[in-house]
Amino acid sequence: MSSIIELKNIEKHFEDGKNTRVKVLRNINLDIKEGEIVAVVGESGCGKTTLGKLIVDIHPPTEGNIQYLGREISSLDKKSYKDYRLGVQMVHQDSFAALNPNKTIFQSLSAPLLKHKIVKTKAEALELISKYMEDVELAPVEQFLYKYPHQLSGGQRQRILLARALLVKPKLIVADEPVSMVDASLRISLLDLMAKMNKLYGISFVYITHDLATARYIANNGRVVVMYLGNIVEVNNINDAIQNPKHPYFKALLKAVPVADPTQKGMISQLPLKSMEIPNLKNLAKGCKFNPRCIYATELCESKEPELRELNGSLVACHYAESILGGNEHDKSGC
Ligand SMILES: Nc1ncnc2c1ncn2[C@@H]1O[C@H](COP(=O)(O)OP(=O)(O)OP(=O)(O)O)[C@@H](O)[C@H]1O
Ligand SMILES: [Mg+2]
Repeated sequence: MSSIIELKNIEKHFEDGKNTRVKVLRNINLDIKEGEIVAVVGESGCGKTTLGKLIVDIHPPTEGNIQYLGREISSLDKKSYKDYRLGVQMVHQDSFAALNPNKTIFQSLSAPLLKHKIVKTKAEALELISKYMEDVELAPVEQFLYKYPHQLSGGQRQRILLARALLVKPKLIVADEPVSMVDASLRISLLDLMAKMNKLYGISFVYITHDLATARYIANNGRVVVMYLGNIVEVNNINDAIQNPKHPYFKALLKAVPVADPTQKGMISQLPLKSMEIPNLKNLAKGCKFNPRCIYATELCESKEPELRELNGSLVACHYAESILGGNEHDKSGC
């Protein structure tokens, strides 16, 4: 399978006040293959959205390069760059913010089609938009096309965003928490819709989430990429990863008990971790960035950062992945 997007040795730093920089992504290597669904999971602030924005070139990388169909995007000519920008679409979490409140859905969806000369007339735009609105199960289309964003539900707006992304026939859609603001009852149908688009049109998806259940649902048989504070710490087939986690952080995430208490946010509430606090990106630990929270950490972990390495066909960045995989606490005297 050929790669659609390849991220090579990516670093992303943001300026944070005078002379301070936050290293939000560090040493990221990842390729997204044709037709696959990749779920990117990790706690709030670990860099998932930033990664998504790099893939669609909303943010440039500080270091490293990004390739689209084998060619570096920073060196593409105008025509090829346009092909890339159409070929890789992003669906954002906040569907309300992503749509112009003063335009009808038809106006919002037809504008890029006309601008990029994908269609010549409004009538052609209407025909094409109607096809994709039906694909995302918004029918009859007349009921939605001439409405403004505030006249639709969150679930309907997310479908509109998906239709907008599909219209330009992308090879890859980066979906950033696309269902987190939608009622639980509607989440599954939206996930099913993305899976259907993956099968029907062979579109690859990068599905960004902090919710492992939806990740497993949509990426069933796809890969999971586990991020921790700007690093990729594990990459594996999602079913294998869930059954045999190799990184202690992912293992802890899997043990998270879903909590009904709304005061306990997200998935970090009851994990087998030394600390529930997410460290500050500006003050990261030496060695393995996870070591202050890791129940398996030793001196080695405090001094040497583990590289992402291959283990049984998957990738993991942990000195002790073999013993964690085996379910044993390793022999701490051995290091
Ligand atoms: N434009 C920016 N300027 C400065 N810092 C930024 C910028 N965008 C993101 N950051 C910082 O980068 C880090 C990662 O942010 P990002 O939005 O990628 O995380 P995330 O994993 O998507 O989190 P969440 O699950 O909450 O959406 C955060 O510390 C954030 O404050
Ligand atoms: Mg985010």
